[in-house]
Amino acid sequence: MIVTTKQLFEHAYGKYALGAYNINNAEQVMGLFRGCIQSEAPFVLQISRGARAYTDKRFLEGMILAADEVFPDSVFAVHLDHGDEETCYDCIESGFYSSVMIDASFYPFEENIAITKRVVERAHANGVSVEAELGQLGGVEEDISVAEDQVHLTEPEQAAEFIERAGCDSLACAIGTSHGAFKFSGSQSLHFEIIEAIQELVPGFPLVMHGSSSVPQEEIERINAAGGGIKGARGVDPKQYLPAAKLGVCKINIDTDGRLVWTRVHREYFRDHPEVFDFRKPGTVFIEEYANFIASRNELLGSVGQLGEVRTALNS
Ligand code: 13P
Repeated sequence: MIVTTKQLFEHAYGKYALGAYNINNAEQVMGLFRGCIQSEAPFVLQISRGARAYTDKRFLEGMILAADEVFPDSVFAVHLDHGDEETCYDCIESGFYSSVMIDASFYPFEENIAITKRVVERAHANGVSVEAELGQLGGVEEDISVAEDQVHLTEPEQAAEFIERAGCDSLACAIGTSHGAFKFSGSQSLHFEIIEAIQELVPGFPLVMHGSSSVPQEEIERINAAGGGIKGARGVDPKQYLPAAKLGVCKINIDTDGRLVWTRVHREYFRDHPEVFDFRKPGTVFIEEYANFIASRNELLGSVGQLGEVRTALNS
């Protein structure tokens, strides 16, 4: 069942966070739905602009609608990740997306508000939720690369003003994470004081944490042992997910970790089975491993076992 992120956040706020997982192909869709059903967790399915262009946005819609039929107990939002204004309107008008992110965080404050407000008006008129972003995360997210010296953390007072004036339903805040597999050069520092301060200023308002992959070191070692060349990769301590959720972070974005599972499975598979050229064989392993990975993240996010209650809340 496709619902809005707003509906999911109402149930999750202050208790747990929804995993927001990016999908690009059929194997990821299968693994994601299996993992969430296995762990009885509601979730956010994210589609980036890059994913829409990879095959064709209509393939993604087709696969997701099929998954909704194959897994009729699932409860999820279909969310555009890091949209520009034009892509947001395309998704809002498609009647398929239940949530969009307008990322105008690289514009000056007033312009970010103006753009977000325009998207909010159109989205709300169509029953679609809107996530906005204030502050600037570092790292590489598809075609956007933000250098370390351009990173700026979200200012709590500005966040409160932004939320009030832009009218968005949730806000992605920069608290020290970054996109991609290379998050911290020194020791990990997440600025929980920023989310605490925003929660105090705007109690009950859902916050979002981007750049949350944990980049498991075992995964990196296995990839490199199977011929990969990923050096110095580091991620967020996943034990931080739940404390963040208790402070009002309702959505935690995890994309890179899924790519690492894919890379490890395929590198190891073809190393160990050099005679194989049937892509369904590693594909089958990937679906299972990705489902297990998703279930393990849902456990850390606290969303495990929430599906029944969410369904009841949505039906009441
Ligand atoms: P990661 O690169 O840490 O997975 O973050 C993904 C993300 O925030 C997508 O919006």
